[in-house]
Amino acid sequence: MEEIILAKGTKEEKYESLFPQLEALWAGEDDLIANMANTVAAIKQVFDFHWVGFYFVKESDLVLGPFQGPIACTRIPFGKGVCGKAWEEGQTILVPDVELFPGHIACSALSRSEIVVPVFGLQTGFVESLESAASIIAVLDIDSAIVNDFDLTDKRWLEKICQKMAS
Ligand code: SME
Repeated sequence: MEEIILAKGTKEEKYESLFPQLEALWAGEDDLIANMANTVAAIKQVFDFHWVGFYFVKESDLVLGPFQGPIACTRIPFGKGVCGKAWEEGQTILVPDVELFPGHIACSALSRSEIVVPVFGLQTGFVESLESAASIIAVLDIDSAIVNDFDLTDKRWLEKICQKMAS
């Protein structure tokens, strides 16, 4: 694939067009960091969000991974900010207005709304069953300069993207 084809239309139609293109990218590469790097680049290109990036779970922190956008905080402790809260709760968090989210970490003053999606993967090392080994290895964080820019369409597609990318 040489470049991402940008679909016009609704948000749903843009995700519908993007998803198979991401699958084609992932199919040709099994390195997670490389796939994360292209995934954030493609999402940024299609939607032009302010910031799109991954943070990796490393011990008790989230550590900055591949991203597109302005420079960002490198470490977020467990339970802190929207990212640390999504990791703690093990579920996607939608923040319509970051100024109303207690503990939001402002990496950029331009961010006004945000979505954070956990990436579930398989832990390495000894495990008793694959089921018990599935845990959060990273989070996908997307910031928008527009208030209330994310909805359940983003949640559904971004969860699907994270799940498929890490499988
Ligand atoms: N706002 C995030 C911090 C990461 S930056 O937005 C890139 C948070 O509250 O966790």
